[in-house]
Amino acid sequence: MKQLMAANWKMYKTWNQARDTASELAQNIRGQLPENREVLIFPPFTALKGVAEALQNEPGMAAGAQNMYPAAEGAFTGEISPDMLLDVGASWVLTGHSERRHVLGEDNAFVGRKTAFALNNNLNVILCIGELIEERRADRVEEVLSEQLEAGLAEIPVGLTSDSLVIAYEPVWAIGTGEVAGPDEIATTHTFVRKKIEELLPSIASEISILYGGSVKPDNISAIMTLDNVDGVLVGGASLTAESFSKIVLA
Ligand code: G3H
Repeated sequence: MKQLMAANWKMYKTWNQARDTASELAQNIRGQLPENREVLIFPPFTALKGVAEALQNEPGMAAGAQNMYPAAEGAFTGEISPDMLLDVGASWVLTGHSERRHVLGEDNAFVGRKTAFALNNNLNVILCIGELIEERRADRVEEVLSEQLEAGLAEIPVGLTSDSLVIAYEPVWAIGTGEVAGPDEIATTHTFVRKKIEELLPSIASEISILYGGSVKPDNISAIMTLDNVDGVLVGGASLTAESFSKIVLA
């Protein structure tokens, strides 16, 4: 199973800062990445070209975008298309991140449209899913994740290969809070996600990487990576410095 260590830099870093951090990270991990492990960096749009150029000759490293709009072009002020992202060197995109869902108001159906459009237009996708704390307390985790997966994957292209799609489980209450989900919560939920994608995408589900996200740090990464059905991580805060993220990548 391919392992992915992904850095989501959210709305942090200028072009220069992002390129410098990407170069320093590449230097820190060069020649040490296990064969089945890849590193992805999701900087702000304005820094994508600089980061993609810094990584272009680094085996196992690539750049991606945090968002895109599901149309080739048009009157969509402030939005960006898959071709524009490919043009500056992005090969991946995040869809369904909890901040897009809960701060920017994206619903399950829109996340599904974006996921399908990205895959149909040569981008690889990390589809993010996760429940709110009140949904966990109400014992609705499986229901919420099922709805997010069913809608998120509803229109994906026929013949999709497992290399193009990754699922990231990020409990919303663990994002940026310092409160990492417990090992049982992570393992149980990831096993549920695997079961659900086996139902939705039977021919490729066993090869799809499932990432955990939510307060991943250098001091908890080793324990998280040993859990069942955890094939990597999506990291926010602790990915912002090369020093911290290289410890996570090489754990
Ligand atoms: O995309 C990354 C997640 O939102 C996790 O963020 O590591 O700061 O909790 P965090």
